[in-house]
Amino acid sequence: MNDMNEVRRQAGSRMTKCRACRECNGIVCAGQTPGCGGKGNGSTFIRNVSKLKEVCVNMNVIASNGEVSTESDFFGKRVALPVYVAPIGNIEANYGAEMSEYEYTCALVEGCGRDTIVFSGDGQNVDVLMEPLRAAHDGWIVPTIKPWQKDEMKRRIEMIKASGCSVCCSDIDAAGLVSLKTGTPAVEFKDVQGLKEIVQEAQMPVIFKGIMTVEAAKKAMEAGAAGIVVSNHGGRVLQDGLSTIEVLEEIANAVKGRMKVFVDGGFRSGSDVFKALALGADGVLIGRPFSIAAIGNHAEGVRTYLHQIQSELKETMMMCGCRSISDISKDCVSVTF
Ligand SMILES: Cc1cc2nc3c(=O)[nH]c(=O)nc-3n(C[C@H](O)[C@H](O)[C@H](O)COP(=O)(O)O)c2cc1C
Repeated sequence: MNDMNEVRRQAGSRMTKCRACRECNGIVCAGQTPGCGGKGNGSTFIRNVSKLKEVCVNMNVIASNGEVSTESDFFGKRVALPVYVAPIGNIEANYGAEMSEYEYTCALVEGCGRDTIVFSGDGQNVDVLMEPLRAAHDGWIVPTIKPWQKDEMKRRIEMIKASGCSVCCSDIDAAGLVSLKTGTPAVEFKDVQGLKEIVQEAQMPVIFKGIMTVEAAKKAMEAGAAGIVVSNHGGRVLQDGLSTIEVLEEIANAVKGRMKVFVDGGFRSGSDVFKALALGADGVLIGRPFSIAAIGNHAEGVRTYLHQIQSELKETMMMCGCRSISDISKDCVSVTF
C-alpha cells in the first residue's frame, strides 16, 4: 500500500472520531475537541488551511539542470527535508483508534527513519509523555511538554533529560486547553520568567510552540529559546484566530538568524511547505496527516506520506528555479491576502 489515498481509506476504517477526509481542512470536524477538530466553530483550523491557498508559487524555469536537494539541518542533525512530525497526544481519545502512544510513536519514528524528526506529545497522564520516549533513538524525538505548574514541570523535565533527548519543546499555548486547566496536574500561563525557568532547568535547546505575534516571539527569545513554532495548536485552543501563514513572515523577519523559526497548521503538501520556507520558516511541522498515515498503515504509511511530501517539495523547487533549501526566498511566492 504505497498510495496515500489507500492509506487514508484504511485509516478511516480504523478510527471512530476522524472521517479521514480527502482534504483535511477542519470543516467536517469543526468543534470536535476532544476529537481532531478545531475549537468552537472550528474557524482557526479552517483558516490555517484556506489561507495557504492564497499564497501562490512563482514558476521560474530558466535555470540550470543541477540536482535538487531538500536536505536541511535540525540542531546539528542532518535531515532529508525540513519537515517534522508535529506532536499529537492521546491518540485513542482524539481519533478513536486502537493504538497506544507507544505504538503510534514507534510507527512515526520507524517511518521517518533518519530522514526526519518526530515531536512527541504530553498529557495529564505522564505515560503520554514517557511512553513515546521509549521509542527514541539517539535523540530523534523532540518531547513536547505541556506548560505544567512549576513543580510538575521540573519533575517532567528531569524525566526528559534522563531519556537522552537532545532538544525539547513546550507547547505553551496548551495553557488555553480547558481540559487541562482542571484536574491534576494543571497547566498554567508562563510569563518570561516562567519560560526562563524552563530553559534553565532543561539545559538543552528549548523550542516554544504556540507563538502567534512578534511580541511573543521576542519574549521567547528574551527567555533564551533556541527556537519557536509559529502555531495555534492546529486551531484547537482559540476560535476566530489568524492562520499561521498570515503571521509567519512578520515574525520570521523580527527574529530570523537569532533563533530557529518553525511553523505548523494546515500544511498538507510539499508546495505548502515551500510557501512557508519562502516566507521565512526554517522548517514545517505537520500534524493530522501524519496521524492518518500512522493509523492507516503504521511505519509504511508514514514513509509513504513523507516521501510524497519530499517529491512534491522537490518538484516545486525545480519549477521555481531552486536547487537547495537556501535558494528558496520571498521572491518565489506571491501573497494575495
Ligand atoms: C488530536 C490532536 C492532538 C494534539 N496534541 C498535541 C500535543 O499533545 N502537544 C502539542 O504540542 N500539540 C498537539 N497538537 C497540535 C499539533 O502539534 C499541531 O500544532 C497541529 O496539529 C498542526 O496542525 P495540522 O494538524 O493542521 O498540521 C494536537 C493536535 C491534534 C489534532
